Amino acid sequence: MDHSLPSQIRRELLDLRRRALIRCPETTDSAAGKTTVVNGRQIRVFCSNNYLDLANDPQVLTALGDGLSRWGWGSAASRLICGTTTAHISLEQQLAQFKRCQAAVLFPTGYMANLGLLTALAGSRDVLLIDKLCHASIIDAARASRATTRFFPHNDIKRLADLLQRYTQARRICIITEGIFSMDGDFAHLPEIIPLKNKYRALLIVDDAHGTGVLGEHGRGTAELLDVEEHIDVTVATLSKAFGSLGGFVCCSAELAEYLRNRSRSYIYTTAAPPVVCLAAAAALEVIQHQPRRRENLQAVAKKLRHDLRRAGFELGSAEAHIIPIMLGRAELALQFSHLLWQRGFMIPAIRQPSVPRGKARLRISLMSSHSPRDIDDLVQALICVARELGLLSHPSQP
Ligand SMILES: Cc1ncc(COP(=O)(O)O)c(C=O)c1O
Repeated sequence: MDHSLPSQIRRELLDLRRRALIRCPETTDSAAGKTTVVNGRQIRVFCSNNYLDLANDPQVLTALGDGLSRWGWGSAASRLICGTTTAHISLEQQLAQFKRCQAAVLFPTGYMANLGLLTALAGSRDVLLIDKLCHASIIDAARASRATTRFFPHNDIKRLADLLQRYTQARRICIITEGIFSMDGDFAHLPEIIPLKNKYRALLIVDDAHGTGVLGEHGRGTAELLDVEEHIDVTVATLSKAFGSLGGFVCCSAELAEYLRNRSRSYIYTTAAPPVVCLAAAAALEVIQHQPRRRENLQAVAKKLRHDLRRAGFELGSAEAHIIPIMLGRAELALQFSHLLWQRGFMIPAIRQPSVPRGKARLRISLMSSHSPRDIDDLVQALICVARELGLLSHPSQP
């Protein structure tokens, strides 16, 4: 046994504590909703990815209950052995129809979808050009692929063009971006990226984990909102956010789907999602398609919050939707702000390095369709009070 390991780990933990980077999440004791219970205390949640309130929706729960008696719980094997059921196939067909693509390939999580996609698509002769603010699952997938990986500054189209020009000799070149960015709440500049990807014959991959179900008139995501759907080559999405479930999927051509089913190691070498998870996701998809009011409510309260916070003097970066960061800078400050909010009954954890770049710590507010204008007023009031307490708002005004 290597006895030096424990002391090195202890030192790293101490260092994380010293730099206010240690993570100690609160333990909740209730179903996901806009309130939760922690140590017997009711807390208001403004940090959930359960954007459309589907994690505990009666229609979804009924599908789960009915499904359990028909299917049982476990899937018993990986997809390629005997874990593919009609529930999996039916969900994949419904997701493909919803996203207007030829095929959808389901993975147990969104993380695994990115991993399976990029490691199957790219190897040492290929180049991946990735927006610098992309999610860790994309970065890990790029590393695992062994492709040449270059990061362009966030939404910097000029730098992307330079990189495309530099790697014209690559076997395959992929541009990878999020649709709506998970920690910043702004959109990829897809209308500017598309002419470039056409010019350089690159493959455009959009991870729309946080836009799918939520953005666009029909909830098809950021590309629908920006009216560029037919130009996106591959979309990655999750069932874990707006769908309120668990899982990830890749939307692509039928041919690429067949390739992924034969080449994606995170699809092949893992147990299939339980069939009831597919039934829950299918029920959530029904709601997404037939209850646009949820999206409308969500965007209405998000618009109000952005407006009220900017008017009060908070720095929100270029947030444009239901993910709204309050930029604070230092990790210690973000942690202190979060702690004071917690004392007032609001749950918004501090987001710090490595989830965001060093010096860019923030509170990441995310809203749900069940939040009301009154909820927003209460939150803004609490944020203003804490900001004043910390001396952050020099001339605070009431919303
Ligand atoms: C942009 C993005 N992609 C992928 C994922 C991974 O999705 P999942 O939680 O389903 O593994 C996340 C999760 O936070 C994400 O924000």
